[in-house]
Formats: sequence, structure tokens, C-alpha cells
Amino acid sequence: MHSAIARLTLDQKAALLSGASFWSTLSIPEAGIDAAVLTDGPHGVRYQKETGDHLGINDSEPATAFPTAAATGSTWDPALLERMGEALGRESRALGVDVLLGPGVNIKRSPLCGRNFEYFSEDPTLAGALGAAWVRGVQSQGVGASLKHFAANNQETERMRVSAEVDERTLREIYLPAFEQTVKESQPATVMCSYNRINGTYASEHPWLLTQVLREEWGYQGYVVSDWGAVNNSARAVAAGLDLAMPAGTQHAPKIVAAVAAGDLDEAVLDRAIDRILTVHEGLRARQAEVASSVDAAAHHALAREVAAAGTVLLVNDGILPLDPASTASIGVIGEFARTPRYQGAGSSHIVPTQLDNALDALVATSAGQVTFAPGFRLDGDEDTLLVQEAVAVASQSDVVVLFLGLPDAEESEGFDRTHLNLPSVQLELLDAVLAANPRVVTVLSNGSVVDLGALAGRMPAVLETWLGGQASGSATVDVLFGAAEPGGRLAETIPVSLADTPAHINWPGTPESVLYGERLYVGYRWYDTVGRDVRFPFGHGLSYTTFALSDVAVDLPDSTQPQATVAVTVTNTGARTGSHVVQLYVRDLESTLDRPAQELKAFAKVTLEPGQSERVLLSLDARAFAFWGRTGWVVEPGTFELAIGHSSRDIVAVETIELTMEPVIEPLGEDATYADWVAHPVGAQVLADALQSIGGFVSQTMANDPDLAKLLESVPLRTLLGFGGDVDGEVAAAELTSRANAALAASAAAPANSETGWESAAEVEVTGKRVSNQRTRAN
Ligand code: BGC
Repeated sequence: MHSAIARLTLDQKAALLSGASFWSTLSIPEAGIDAAVLTDGPHGVRYQKETGDHLGINDSEPATAFPTAAATGSTWDPALLERMGEALGRESRALGVDVLLGPGVNIKRSPLCGRNFEYFSEDPTLAGALGAAWVRGVQSQGVGASLKHFAANNQETERMRVSAEVDERTLREIYLPAFEQTVKESQPATVMCSYNRINGTYASEHPWLLTQVLREEWGYQGYVVSDWGAVNNSARAVAAGLDLAMPAGTQHAPKIVAAVAAGDLDEAVLDRAIDRILTVHEGLRARQAEVASSVDAAAHHALAREVAAAGTVLLVNDGILPLDPASTASIGVIGEFARTPRYQGAGSSHIVPTQLDNALDALVATSAGQVTFAPGFRLDGDEDTLLVQEAVAVASQSDVVVLFLGLPDAEESEGFDRTHLNLPSVQLELLDAVLAANPRVVTVLSNGSVVDLGALAGRMPAVLETWLGGQASGSATVDVLFGAAEPGGRLAETIPVSLADTPAHINWPGTPESVLYGERLYVGYRWYDTVGRDVRFPFGHGLSYTTFALSDVAVDLPDSTQPQATVAVTVTNTGARTGSHVVQLYVRDLESTLDRPAQELKAFAKVTLEPGQSERVLLSLDARAFAFWGRTGWVVEPGTFELAIGHSSRDIVAVETIELTMEPVIEPLGEDATYADWVAHPVGAQVLADALQSIGGFVSQTMANDPDLAKLLESVPLRTLLGFGGDVDGEVAAAELTSRANAALAASAAAPANSETGWESAAEVEVTGKRVSNQRTRAN
């Protein structure tokens, strides 16, 4: 326990558990306790000297606006994210910030979420790897990260009260793993609990979430901070494991004091929270003393430019890109976004950049030919036919048109969700008119979450998705257009054909009180690939200026009784330019007790290769890659698994099959076990069969002699079944058989060992004998 705690009064202790201002914690000089500064995040440092706010209203000190998570997620490049994290850490240090509020690793459940631009992906494996890398980078500089928003905060609608109604398996397999991986690999200094409720309980008051899962299961060492204003009941929150309530408020401390005085809250719980907060802050200061830090603004701008290009996804290209400066005598640059870039999102992450590039200036500077600009549309969405006419005139006189479209600020933001996937109608009309005037149109998109280009997608020679690419996005886009940089991005989220296709559609956004996660595990490509639905652009997709071949796939499964494998594949750059490629490995469980998605990304690697160069890439799969969340823990079942290697979820080039042959571990029978559970249970079946002879009457007759009727009774609990007929107390008889069967099981070697749910550990195994086929058609 931190030595200062013994010297604190109850009032001081309670006061330490909430902010002293909008962005800082309390200092108590006489106890040797210093204040710490926490600031947004995640793609730039939003340090406010004057009036603080968490809505992006007041200005902050200039800082590099790096690409948002929509773009960094598309890089599929943890090493690059780590470098970006280091830069963010250095800027935090320069501004006196101790904790940077990020990364956001929430899963993109629906493309409508107004805050998707702050989140990495629809896939937990990708989001977890990037989140862990970002945290490593920031924390290497002695600055703490704040992993947010924990948890199931997947929409902005009613975010401060809605209850995410989500079953445990879906939480464990989809919504928690990115948090789990980041916690286990990188130990973020703080974790930020979300505003929403989860199955009825506020995240800020959720003992299961904040204590059992986060600390006891995952071994989290840092402190839990509330999202700004997320605490509703102070005493309940502190008891559940919430350490610091932000920002400053007049009520948190008195309520905690009152709860302690009333005997509702143990003072030791306060001590524990203070200990965590002080230990984290002192650890950061110690690291700050060790690591010298300084900021080179120009180098950070250059890094922002590199990351922006690495996250740019080339969706379509008929060969028009990269543009050849020599043979492009005239370029028509159309679209307001060319000179007024949309490069970051609105809300708490909104920062003041150190400089701002725009694509128009960069095009003028780069192109050898004539560049003519026409804004084409108004950002407020009002019709302006003169602007369209001017744009059409420019298009018809140009060799090639670069058309900048996207979502204006008003269309997507923290705080609200979109209701459709369309671009503003003025932009779609402009696109139509420009394409009619000159079909050689390269469309550049800036948006924080996916947009539907509808049928026009097929008519465009090239489409570049640049997301909200940060302060250097203008120059990065031009780097990509002319081939000075390659489009390094691959989709971290599926672009659907229509909104109605999206998995959460009928449950989105729910009522003011609750939102049902009715699609369960089937989020993003897990849904599209399982139901075989067409998509506009699949998860993992992204073209390159060169071409890649995958060959010589080899699987190494050293011991088929251990769920650990390595897949080796040779990646060759078969084209004429240097480029990077993302190799993706998806796992499918062919036969499983529970339903499972058709395939799930479990490993990936990004490699950069020169023309003709090859590299052997190794992708590792641990137990978790094969596991599902069973009734009480992670489960790997023996059987056949497909390992699919490809360029995207829909472009699989090789499928290898492995057999896991470990001895199934058999779970004990529960009191609700049905007749079918008993018959399928390797130990229980015999115990039941023996007992049926003596139980007599209706039950044994039916079960023993009439298979058709027995099928009809499969889902009836044994205790109910034994009670039918009236002459047996079913509950007593079933309890007796259950203890007999479980005792026999315990005496055998097949009983489950203690659950080990570690990130890399071998998962425990449960087999019930009920297995369903997962032989769905892979939607290629
Ligand atoms: C956001 C957080 C942010 C906090 C402080 C909240 O509204 O949800 O992401 O870190 O404000 O600005």
C-alpha cells in the first residue's frame, strides 16, 4: 500500500477519487501527492490550457493531428502504430500530459456508429493487435494510455444510458478480446469505463466487468477511470472497481464519505483505489525521469503523412492510378474537400493541428501539368447548380479528374449516429455529372466510416478511400495518386452493398433503454461470410500498385493434441513496383458443439517487398485461435479445422486442414441436464442406462423401447422426466444419479482441470458429444 495513504483523512481520500479539474487529478502537497494531467486522445494530444471541455468546443494547444483510427486500423501495421504511439507520447510529454486518453478499441458493430472513426475495426484480432501496439508506443515515453471505452460501447445513440443486451459468449469472443489483448500485452496505465450499461448495469458500476474480468482474470494492474461523467452512483462505482471519477465534480467525494460513514462502503476499498492511482502516476514519473523526450514537429508531420498513406485503401483501379505526371497535361481537381480537407472527426478527439496540408496545394506543387480547381458542391449540403456547371466544364477540359468526395462534419460525429450510408445528395449528383463529362475520374473519399457509392462504384475507374487521414492527409493523398507512396491500406471493416444487409440492422439502435445484440457473434464479415451475402468490398480488401502471389503454404502442428500451429507462406511481389501486402489467416471450425462463424481472422502479417522479392511469412496460432467461449470458459474441441490463407476474407488462395486430436475433457452434468445431455455424456449415459432398469414404469419403458418417443423427450430435464408417472420423486432421483455420474467422472482422467483463460495459454477443453456441422459454403 502506498505510504501516503496512512496519512490521509477520509475526506482527502474521497477527494482523491475524482478529478480536481476537467483534466487533472488532485494534488495534496503535504502528503507528497502530485496532480496528474489526463487529456484526449486518441490521434493527437488535446491539451487545453484554458477552458476545458470534452466536446471539441474550446481550442487546445497545437499538436500533430495523426490519422484517425479509421485510417490507422486500415494500415494493419502494429509496428507503425507503435511508432505513432511513441510520437504521441513525446508530444504528451512536451505539453505536460501524463495520461493520453486512447486508444479506442471498441468493435465497429454497425457502420452507422458516429464514432467509428475513433475505432480500429470490426474484427477483434486486428483491433487488439493495433491497440496493444499503440499503448506500447505511448507508454514507452513515460505517458500512460487509457484503453477505452470499456465495454460494449458500440453506438452513440443514447450512449449515456442505453443497456447493451449482449450474451456472455458474444462479449467474450467479439467485444472484449481487443481489450483483453491490450491489457495482457501492454498493461495500459488506465482503462476507461464506458457510459452505457451492459445487461442492465452501468459499466462504471459493473463488478463483473471492472473487477472479475479485468483484474482477476486478465491480471490488470493499472487504474480504472470513468468516461467523463459516466459515474451515476458513486458508492456503487467505487465498490465495483472504479478508481477515478472524471472530471471534477462536487458530489462524488461527499457521497463516498457518506457511504463509508453509513457502513455501506469499506474504507479499505478507497485505499485500494488510491493505491492504484498513486502507483500508476509515480510509475509514469519514474519512467519520464528515465526517458529523455523532445518533439520534432516536422518529423511528426512526416510520420502523419506516412501513416496516412499506409492507411489509404485503393478500392478500385482500372490502371489509371498511379497517375503519370508526364502524361497528365491537365488535371481537373473537383470537390471542396481538395482545399478544405476533412481530416479528423468531431467531438472529444478534435484537436488543433500544427499545420494542415491540402490536396489541392499538393497537386499544384507535384503536377507538371495544368491543375484547374472547381469546388463542385457546398459543404452545408445546399444545392448550387452553378458549382456543378463549373465542375462539369473543368472535367470536360481535363485529361483526368480527381474528385474529392466525403462526409462533412455535420454528417458524422461523436454524440450521434448516422441513419444512412449515403454521401450527401449534392455530391452524388456532382459525381454523376462529372462522370458523364469525363469518365477518367479518380474519386478520393474522406469519411470516418464507410459510405455507399451505390451503382456508381462500378463506373469509376479508381476509388481511393483515405478515411479521416490527419493533418498530412492532403499531401499523403497526392503521394499515393502519383505513386510516390503506395496505397498501403486494407479494409478493416466490410463495405456492405446496402444498409439493410448489415448484421445489426434490425436491432439498431434499439430503444432509449436497451439495444439487443441479436446478431451475436456475427459482426462484420463473420455475418456476411456465414450467410453468404454479397458485399461491395470485403473485409481485408485493398488493391496495390503491384501484385502479390502467395505460395508454398505449409502448416506445422507439432503435436495434434496441442492446439498450437504455425502456418508458413511465401509472399512474392510479382509486379514492377515496391509495395506492401497483408497476408491474412482465417480459421474455420468444421464441426462444433456451438454454432460458429464461417471463418475468423486469427493472424495476419504485413510485408513490404521490392519487385521480384519473396519473403517466407510465419503466422502463429495459439489455443485461443481455435477456441470458443463455452458455458464457463474457453473451449477447444478436437476435430477438423480449416486454415485459410488469403488476400481478403473473400479472396482465399489456399485452404489447409488440420486435425486436433486431444482427448476430450468431459464436463460434469448439471442439475438442468436434459435427457439428451445424459445420453450423450460418456459417463452419464451408462449410469442412466443402468439405473433405468430399476427405476421402472413409464420412463424406462419409453426410453428403452421407443426411440421415436425418446427423441421427443430429448430436451426434457432428467429430473422432470423421472418425475413423469407420479411414482418417483424426479428431483431426488436425478440428484442421486447426477452425483453418481459426476463421482465416476471425477475418478476418471477426463474431468476438466482448472480453467486457464490466459491470452496465450492452452484453453481447457469441453466436449459434450453434441456437435453441429459448420459446413457452410465459403463465400468466395
Ligand atoms: C468521451 C471520451 C473522452 C472524454 C474526455 C467523453 O465524452 O467519450 O472518449 O476521452 O469525453 O474528453
